[in-house]
Amino acid sequence: MFGRKKKKADDWVELKDQPVPEGSHLLEVDDLKMFFHTEDGVVKAVNGVSYTLDRGETLGVVGESGSGKSVTSMTIMGLIDMPPGKIEGGDVRYRGKSLLKMSEEQMEHVRGNDIAMIFQDPMTSLNPVYTIGRQLSEGMRLHMGYTKEQALQRSIELLKMVGIPNAEQRVKDYPHEFSGGMRQRVMIAMALACNPDILIADEPTTALDVTIQAQIIELMQEMQKKNGNAIIMITHDLGVVADVADKIMVMYAGSPVEFGTADEIFYESMHPYTWGLTRSIPDPVFDEKHALTPIKGNPPSLVNLPAGCPFSPRCPYATDLCRTKVPERFTTETGHYSRCHYAHDPEFVRKNAPQTSHTKTKSSKSPEVAKGGEA
Ligand SMILES: Nc1ncnc2c1ncn2[C@@H]1O[C@H](COP(=O)(O)OP(=O)(O)OP(=O)(O)O)[C@@H](O)[C@H]1O
Ligand code: SF4
Ligand SMILES: [Mg+2]
Repeated sequence: MFGRKKKKADDWVELKDQPVPEGSHLLEVDDLKMFFHTEDGVVKAVNGVSYTLDRGETLGVVGESGSGKSVTSMTIMGLIDMPPGKIEGGDVRYRGKSLLKMSEEQMEHVRGNDIAMIFQDPMTSLNPVYTIGRQLSEGMRLHMGYTKEQALQRSIELLKMVGIPNAEQRVKDYPHEFSGGMRQRVMIAMALACNPDILIADEPTTALDVTIQAQIIELMQEMQKKNGNAIIMITHDLGVVADVADKIMVMYAGSPVEFGTADEIFYESMHPYTWGLTRSIPDPVFDEKHALTPIKGNPPSLVNLPAGCPFSPRCPYATDLCRTKVPERFTTETGHYSRCHYAHDPEFVRKNAPQTSHTKTKSSKSPEVAKGGEA
């Protein structure tokens, strides 16, 4: 795979340079469903995911382990093996073009040029037998037509940019010679090498200490300021995206249960699962007065989802309706949506949402119920 220069298809259109069609968004994920068909049954890993993203924006994707955060992004990137995976419905449009309809060759180009992903495990994403410099250069030679020397120089620049000291020397090292934090930085450098339109960072900071976490997030934000790219930041910790995300999608058992602007998620949340996540992060306003309360119980199996609302076995407000009927999506006019039977009831929300959710005065919205996907 290394050192090979691939010719682009003659009819290839450089997507990154195409305008976003009027009325569309940079990225539109529209009721996306991708299930794994396994011997043990059908794993509903991506079950009706919808969101939009524009240039310069940061989307936080939040949820517990196994909620489908990584698999959703890998489906968008065309990185899921089909089979066992199968697209069961929906679409993903990038600059108005469906990524699901693209050939593997086109998707390879999109992955190198337009949408880049920093994977969850930096060690398995770097090839142990090639130097850092060679791995960084590969994409630039393949997609940007750089010569070996140009790619090497740019690799050194990128390593410096992500704060690797002595980059001229370190570019010749192998992944095992780098610490975990440094490998994360290399992954970021690699993802940024081709100046992508969308950068997907999958738990980029989990294994790192807090100081390095903060530096990595700052670095991605600096890049975004400079390049205007969009970022999708995946994390199990709502607190991590509190200050950086413009929009947040909260996932539970393969489905988004709530989506909105960061302010809507933090101050006007309409879903009990989001309230649980909010209560389990240190609260900047009420920190001293409120003990952290983790959400009780475990997420369900994605093969055997509970009847009705998937959160009902753990939800303190569950009713018979919740245990029998899948909630539809309740969407406000700003696009903020929640999949809870009681999201439309301001009294329910006011009474039960964490106190921080009331620190802002509600705007005069006139919510309407939009049809959601089923589970
Ligand atoms: N190849 C596969 N075959 C069957 N099931 C799979 C496969 N890959 C992932 N899954 C399942 O899909 C579900 C979603 O996984 P995913 O990795 O997206 O979770 P996640 O939200 O990223 O969790 P984490 O926070 O632990 O990274 C899980 O139940 C997982 O076991
Ligand atoms: S639909 Fe019912 S069980 Fe589900 S989150 Fe809302 S109140 Fe809880
Ligand atoms: Mg993951």
